Amino acid sequence: MGLSLRHTIHQKAETATDLLSLERSLRKLLVGKLEDRDRIQALNLACGRADETGVLAKIISEKTQNGHIEGLDLRAPEIAGANQLWKPALNNELSEGENGASKISCDFRIGRADQLDQWKELDSPDLVFIRHQNFWFDPKAWIKLYNQAINKLREDGVMVITSYFDKEHEMARQVLTKLGAIEVSHRFNPEAKLVKDSPKIEKTVDRHISVFVKV
Ligand SMILES: C[S@@+](CC[C@H](N)C(=O)[O-])C[C@H]1O[C@@H](n2cnc3c(N)ncnc32)[C@H](O)[C@@H]1O
Repeated sequence: MGLSLRHTIHQKAETATDLLSLERSLRKLLVGKLEDRDRIQALNLACGRADETGVLAKIISEKTQNGHIEGLDLRAPEIAGANQLWKPALNNELSEGENGASKISCDFRIGRADQLDQWKELDSPDLVFIRHQNFWFDPKAWIKLYNQAINKLREDGVMVITSYFDKEHEMARQVLTKLGAIEVSHRFNPEAKLVKDSPKIEKTVDRHISVFVKV
């Protein structure tokens, strides 16, 4: 099982290296999770342009033959870009899927992830994924977002968050724990790549990755 898609073909070499590192970390952190399912429904919250869609599709395809990734973000241009890039890329993979490989589809929507209860049509996800979670941006909204994401998550689902910053990761972790989630695995990458747009504070790509389950 597993997609043969060359997920990074459309992306800059720098981004491709980050994505490869994310893929390796997720594969390790999700060992024994999301197994034996006919289908995996993933919800990528605050997904931006969702560069990691290929990685998610690949990880999902290693665990099941059918999957769907739904992305949600406030920013319209990023969502348009994600739909433009990833729908055709995964649809091409779909035709390979008919010959035995996995079939993973995707869709990206503009919307508030802290108002998830309004998205009645979204299935309960097996996997909630939040890359470079943005707790500092609006703590109240993000507490709501986490609460609703945990409520929406299937009982046997997993939630994965990644962070640019140590402190922001710790804050998210504390909120999630208070909301009743349990952290079951974590990876700190001390060699994570520095993001150049923020020279004064240590902002690095996928510096922390944590996996949570529901109590
Ligand atoms: C640090 S960026 C990360 C984007 C993407 N996940 C990545 O790793 O490149 C944080 C994202 O959160 C989105 N965001 C912040 N608050 C949100 C909310 N309440 N609902 C949906 N998206 C939100 C922003 O629009 C932005 O795209």
